[in-house]
Amino acid sequence: MINSHWVHHAGLSIAVLVVWLSSRSSAAEYPAAMQCVVGGGQESDSVEHRKDEQSDQLPVGNRHERTAAQIGREIFLDTGLSRPAGQACVSCHIPSAAFADPRSFSPGAVKGRKGVRNAPSLMYAALIPGFAYEDLFTDEGTEIYAYEGGLFHDGRARDLFDQVQQPFFDRNEMNLPDTSALADRLRRSEYAVEFKQWIGSERWKDDSQLTYHAYRALVEFLKEPMFRPFDARIDDFLAGDTDALTKAERRGLEIFRGAGKCADCHFLEPTSWTPALLSDYGYDNLGVPSRGEKDAGLGARIGAEGLGQFRAPSLRNVALTAPYMHNGSIASLQEVMEFYNKRDLEPQRWGPTDYPETVNREDIGKLNLTDQQIKDLVALMSAFTDRSVVERNPAQLFPEAPKGTPSTTSKRLYFPDWTHRLHPAFPGVVDSFPASRVHSNQQAE
Ligand code: HEC
Ligand code: HEC
Repeated sequence: MINSHWVHHAGLSIAVLVVWLSSRSSAAEYPAAMQCVVGGGQESDSVEHRKDEQSDQLPVGNRHERTAAQIGREIFLDTGLSRPAGQACVSCHIPSAAFADPRSFSPGAVKGRKGVRNAPSLMYAALIPGFAYEDLFTDEGTEIYAYEGGLFHDGRARDLFDQVQQPFFDRNEMNLPDTSALADRLRRSEYAVEFKQWIGSERWKDDSQLTYHAYRALVEFLKEPMFRPFDARIDDFLAGDTDALTKAERRGLEIFRGAGKCADCHFLEPTSWTPALLSDYGYDNLGVPSRGEKDAGLGARIGAEGLGQFRAPSLRNVALTAPYMHNGSIASLQEVMEFYNKRDLEPQRWGPTDYPETVNREDIGKLNLTDQQIKDLVALMSAFTDRSVVERNPAQLFPEAPKGTPSTTSKRLYFPDWTHRLHPAFPGVVDSFPASRVHSNQQAE
């Protein structure tokens, strides 16, 4: 359904974008506390900036984080940062689709090029844990090790800071040749003045410092409350409001927890630090339909046992993010449920999969659910949609988190991976970050 609206959505987004860009510096958009940084340059700020020039990084703090998020927002929308110009993050991460792409594969900046994976939602992406090999205990008490977390469907970016760098240099995405090409474009951007004021003129001149702060700004932007509103009906229900779900949805929830085994991987229980994220961020090969060229997934990193495995996505806002699976091979939630239910009973319907030998045949594939149960599960998933995303003011490009959503600074513990991360490219900092990956192109043309 979303597919047929795509052309319309694209037109709308770009129109709104133009309006937004041209009105971007209106002071009213910025809370008073940061106008001095973004707009004005008061004396106390420049003193602080001069002091900061001594160290590699700007100090972390309320005001700096908010400025960073504003610059990140500009970068997210800036179509001048691709080669050829014309593509921004927002071109593939569409706000009305919960920042996913309704097209199976997003076209890149270069005409005719595209990748082989479906662009996922950016809602809650800042809460995805870093890539790790974790030890866990099974119900029987045996210790097992499993991969979890990381960004991209295959977790190849260890965290968000690693991830946000890659679209700029991916030849199927924004296609810049190197860091200095990005730095040049940032220096010519419409928000250059604010950016320079934020980081100071010394850093502004240095390509690696400038781009480092651009990545940092994007991370801050993706941590903004609008990406983590937790205002879906399922949140109300889990918080004790039993009327928040319809009868069908409550039946769906029972199957989600029980016969469907969904909650084994798409966790319903809030963690100690957030409400339900609807994922354990573990890896599995579901045996989804092949779309041509084999995609090794986690296997590209860990070898044979990981072939065809992809990270379980959060199901938050899943009703808005069709098509589904890492390769966009399944068009609707109804079909996703039919796939889970009867994959192994109707192999001809789903066709070949890339790596049959590693497919999970225990937990999914023949669930013996009735048509009604499937319907109830699909109904349930509409309760995973955040209100602020669907009830967005159509005059605004971005959703707005409900009042009372904690600020990034007050919830810094949500983001442990990033907060303590030092700039990998500067001398004296021990960091296993593989710099070469940033410029490598993951997907063949
Ligand atoms: C040409 C389309 C395109 C553009 C432009 C693009 N992305 Fe993406 N994005 C994708 C696709 C496709 C994936 C999944 C790729 C994969 O898993 O290999 C993705 C994945 C991501 C993820 C990982 C989410 C997750 O669940 O792991 C984040 C975060 C992200 N993009 C942010 C950005 C940012 C920030 C920008 C701009 C600097 C951007 N993207 C530009 C298509 C795009
Ligand atoms: C064994 C773990 C596991 C179980 C059990 C499981 N899932 Fe998943 N789910 C995954 C993984 C992994 C993916 C991503 C697979 C891929 O992209 O190749 C996924 C993808 C999905 C998607 C597509 C999301 C998107 O954005 O593309 C939906 C919808 C979904 N699951 C719903 C369910 C429901 C409902 C159930 C219960 C009937 C369920 N899952 C059971 C692991 C699981």
